[in-house]
Amino acid sequence: MNIAPIMRTYCGLEKKSLIGQTILLKGWVARRRDHGGLIFVDLRDRSGYIQVVFNPDYSKEALSIANELRLEYVIEVEGKVLERSLDTINKDMPTGYFEVAVSKINILNKAKALPFMIEENDHIDEELRLKYRYLDLRRRLMLKKITLRHEVAFAMREFFNKNGFLEVETPLLTKSTMEGAREFLVPSRVHAKYFYSLPQSPQLYKQLLMASGIEKYFQIARCFRDEDLRADRQPEFTQLDLEMSFVNEEDIINMIENLMVYLFDKVFKSKIVAPFPRMSYDKAFSNYGSDKPDLRFDMPIYNVTNVFDNTELTFIKSILKMGGKVGALVVEKENLTRNELDGFVAKAIEVGAKGLVWIRFNNDGTFDSPVSKFLPAELLPEIQKNIINFKAGQTLLIMAGDHKETWTFLGRLRVLLAHQFDLIKKDVLNFSWVIDFPLLEYDAEEKRWSSVHHPFTSPQEGWEKQKPEEMKARAYDLVLNGVELGGGSIRIHASDIQTKVFEMLGINKDLAQQMFGFLLEAQELGFPPHGGIALGLDRFIMLMTDSLSIRDVIAFPKTQRGYELMMNAPSEVDEKKLREYKIQFKV
Ligand code: AMO
Repeated sequence: MNIAPIMRTYCGLEKKSLIGQTILLKGWVARRRDHGGLIFVDLRDRSGYIQVVFNPDYSKEALSIANELRLEYVIEVEGKVLERSLDTINKDMPTGYFEVAVSKINILNKAKALPFMIEENDHIDEELRLKYRYLDLRRRLMLKKITLRHEVAFAMREFFNKNGFLEVETPLLTKSTMEGAREFLVPSRVHAKYFYSLPQSPQLYKQLLMASGIEKYFQIARCFRDEDLRADRQPEFTQLDLEMSFVNEEDIINMIENLMVYLFDKVFKSKIVAPFPRMSYDKAFSNYGSDKPDLRFDMPIYNVTNVFDNTELTFIKSILKMGGKVGALVVEKENLTRNELDGFVAKAIEVGAKGLVWIRFNNDGTFDSPVSKFLPAELLPEIQKNIINFKAGQTLLIMAGDHKETWTFLGRLRVLLAHQFDLIKKDVLNFSWVIDFPLLEYDAEEKRWSSVHHPFTSPQEGWEKQKPEEMKARAYDLVLNGVELGGGSIRIHASDIQTKVFEMLGINKDLAQQMFGFLLEAQELGFPPHGGIALGLDRFIMLMTDSLSIRDVIAFPKTQRGYELMMNAPSEVDEKKLREYKIQFKV
């Protein structure tokens, strides 16, 4: 059947102006109700839904075809737009005031019984969703997230274009950038035994674009990291990446704050306040045990080491002897039960700690604790010297050990407790900057220093006279609600400093030449001072859509184990192909 050349319109569009007109719609059968001789179909396309009606008075032929319709059939219909009578209005649908009286229908394609229902947003097994991702993406919730992602990326491009940036694509088949994660390797067929490495980020290319005089670069860039996957990590993800010449920390921070204000105004139709608060890494770590503290609630970590200076608790005594520290969290809720108290120990173990000591103070100042006989009777005033607002009735959760490790555990416990006691402010976007990071961290396993950010990060002034553990980086991270949204730095642009930093990282001159000779040479051929940052686009959309997993904001993501379930990747390749690559397996 040929449908007359009537202009197509869309299901979800407002129909008031079209009342009485004949329109053409194309889409999927989302719902179908058979009222014996009358068939109602909710037709769906990307724009939304509209009820189309098959009635023998409109067309007997169309009604008889409509009898064959099943869910998710793809159809086109032609019909007149009618206003619904008051008692049949469906207020749940934006187009629920109208319906289309179908005069012609054409079935464009049929659909078998589906592995899951599209229109039910209840729990659907995630593996099934990923295997049939194209069906999953038909769901409105998913469409909304994909649409928002597009809108954000589009507004980002608009913003950077207005601010004089050029978007430049950088290669995906490249060489290691040493950014900390394991890399994905791609064997070269032409150069047997040689491998490309997929970029962990465009880091080196964007720096070299500054050497090219591009001055302001951005890219919505794909990055690849073969690391353990978590709820907010994918092996293949997207960054908003930027780099600028002749700038300092303030310029980059301001640019990102302006970008956020623009995005919230344009896309989220709300206002956010900039500048965002800044906190030094040292303060973030000592108060919150994290370099990405969630500041939607307070609950700081207290250093109570000196309370235990003369302790009789042997395990704390030996920890203090080794230079360890004692940290504490305060639970304000009074009259905690034994069950609740034991629950804290279980939570401590959940976050990686060996355990935790609780001390519950009663309203009269006495206290209960599994170790109470080793604690001094006059403990409350001692605690109050360290924790000014601490009151009788409250409970102290104590951990002792290596400073970095213990504070990290307390930081994680802090977040679990905030959830347990419902302390996190709802509907709040808490942006903050963490600055003054250490330049290096000691890798005890490898027995060497490694970069906290990456080897191209500039040290802060005075570094030549400092010990490695004292050196600070000209780096800044953007944190949103306890999630690291982005990170960047002012870079090294002088080859002598770069060489010294490589040396501190155990990369001697020869190795540096072999790995980064091109960079060291560029640094001697007129390299401008420069700096930049990258924001995780997936993470941003994840936070803005309240998604529990990063997979929900990526059209075709990988599972926790790195599988792409729809096409089945990775997969084996046949012998012939392996021979072409001169690859042989030894296992
Ligand atoms: P960094 O490694 O901090 O910096 O990455 C920047 C941001 O990218 C996001 N991100 C990820 N998102 C999803 N899955 C992952 N596996 C993943 N890894 C990182 C995070 C992170 O904050 N080249 C530097 C940037 C620079 O110095 O300019 C870099 O890549 O949101």
